[in-house]
Amino acid sequence: MKAIFCTQFGTADALVYEQNAPDPIPGPSDIVIDVKACGLGFPDGLIIENKYQFKPPLPFSPGGEVAGVVSAVGEKVKHLRPGDAVMALSGWGGFAEKVAVNAKRAFPLPPGMDFLTAASVLYTYGTSYHALKDRATLKPGETLLVLGAGGGVGLTAVELGKLMGAKVIAAASSEEKLAACRAKGASHTINYTTENLRERLKEITGEQGVDVIYDPIGGDWSEQALRSIAWKGRFLVVGFAAGHIPKLPLNLALLKGCSVMGVFWGSFAEREPQNNLQNFLELFQWMQKGYLSQHIHRVYALEQAPQAILDMQARKLVGKAIIKVGDWGQEVNQTQPPQPAPAVEEKPKPSAGPAVFRNKADFQARVGQGLGTSQWLTVSQEMINQFAAGTLDHQWIHVDVARAKNEMPDGKTIAHGFLSLSLIPRFIQELIQVEGLKLMFNYGTNKIRFPKAVPAGSRLRMSGSILAAEDMPDGLGLSLTFACAIELEGEGKPACVAEMITALYW
Ligand SMILES: NC(=O)c1ccc[n+]([C@@H]2O[C@H](COP(=O)([O-])OP(=O)(O)OC[C@H]3O[C@@H](n4cnc5c(N)ncnc54)[C@H](OP(=O)(O)O)[C@@H]3O)[C@@H](O)[C@H]2O)c1
Repeated sequence: MKAIFCTQFGTADALVYEQNAPDPIPGPSDIVIDVKACGLGFPDGLIIENKYQFKPPLPFSPGGEVAGVVSAVGEKVKHLRPGDAVMALSGWGGFAEKVAVNAKRAFPLPPGMDFLTAASVLYTYGTSYHALKDRATLKPGETLLVLGAGGGVGLTAVELGKLMGAKVIAAASSEEKLAACRAKGASHTINYTTENLRERLKEITGEQGVDVIYDPIGGDWSEQALRSIAWKGRFLVVGFAAGHIPKLPLNLALLKGCSVMGVFWGSFAEREPQNNLQNFLELFQWMQKGYLSQHIHRVYALEQAPQAILDMQARKLVGKAIIKVGDWGQEVNQTQPPQPAPAVEEKPKPSAGPAVFRNKADFQARVGQGLGTSQWLTVSQEMINQFAAGTLDHQWIHVDVARAKNEMPDGKTIAHGFLSLSLIPRFIQELIQVEGLKLMFNYGTNKIRFPKAVPAGSRLRMSGSILAAEDMPDGLGLSLTFACAIELEGEGKPACVAEMITALYW
């Protein structure tokens, strides 16, 4: 098999790409996984330098979190079979075409989850959810400061904090990372390499301070952050990516009445497997509903894995990087920019007026750019009734106001999801104006999600951006993909997110 090997402890440059390594043989309690993807994690850089808590004998492959297909099982393994798609915590060995893992550390792939995502969720979301839920018991309305917020665990803490109802302040070292944090729901961002962390936190939280601090970086930032913690705040010690383990003055804990809490997800998973499983059931449900989605910054081919480690250590990555093993599905080496205009941003500015487009080039020049935000539109009960009448879809949940008063959680009917979807062309008209068109037709919609129901009487507005503007196969027209996010007033989650595909001919 092909694999990346650490043959002597040192930096990633010294790793060796081997094309004819022997395949692993499963022990009685092991499975062998044909690896499709391996998530890159901070420990991969530490383990090859012999600085990690686990020290496998040389030679070994790094790579602690994999997704793939079971190809062999040991005689004691009963719950997995060859052909099963799984995700697993390998510890090391994942930068290879095959890895042997104790079957207890492997889980069937949740329905609908792809291999790239599956190779990157256990370590990041598992840690952040355990930290925020089990350790800090984060509550809606509290403020959460995430340091190293653009990193693998940091970005999931931002996303989960927002989902759990907190006001999230994200701190990181670059605008690219901070933009990704805003897209995941951070309401405030701080660049701690150019701004004074304490002063900015004071500006944002006043005398109150921050309720919960999530710290995966350590170094000099920890004490600065702790000095800005609220009365009875919780400081989560997650990691020391900045390199040194800080010593905190304990008088701060006394003065603030706060708790400094260790977070060790690996040990939690070993000691409390039922609680860990429960956390993952909740996380996977949120993923299936589209409330959480891993930010995959870059996909590297197996032979590029040493470069991936170097990029991580140089702080160039946003969210997660994945090592893709073998030639399947999507192209390798795709850089994915942060997602477009978040619907969860606190106060998107209404656009001044529609942007004007006269030809293909006008659209192509705006690819990747936002088109602003529409005005608010109230979804009245009358509008919902008309939609029901027009579509012959009279479900009581949409039209029976009296029954909704007793049976719906907030006593109101809710608009049909397709009503929000059908408002997209109307919102688009507010954002863009196309001149001189001969013909325009809609192909349809792609990647539609309805993260939040729309109660009657609530207000919606839409942010849009141009994802792609490509020549039609006939070379005459333009195929346009809009990313649309419909915001529901007062809610962190959007009412509807979709891509609209349209063809234009001049
Ligand atoms: N306790 C647990 O259970 C647990 C679980 C998972 C991970 N961890 C730990 O959490 C930390 C982060 O892991 P991760 O996978 O999120 O790593 P990552 O993706 O590389 O992110 C780390 C972040 O730390 C910041 N950073 C500051 N100084 C750095 C330096 N000298 N070198 C590299 N990064 C630096 C970077 O953000 P800026 O450039 O914005 O500063 C980077 O985005 C690691 O220490 C890891 O061991 C702990």
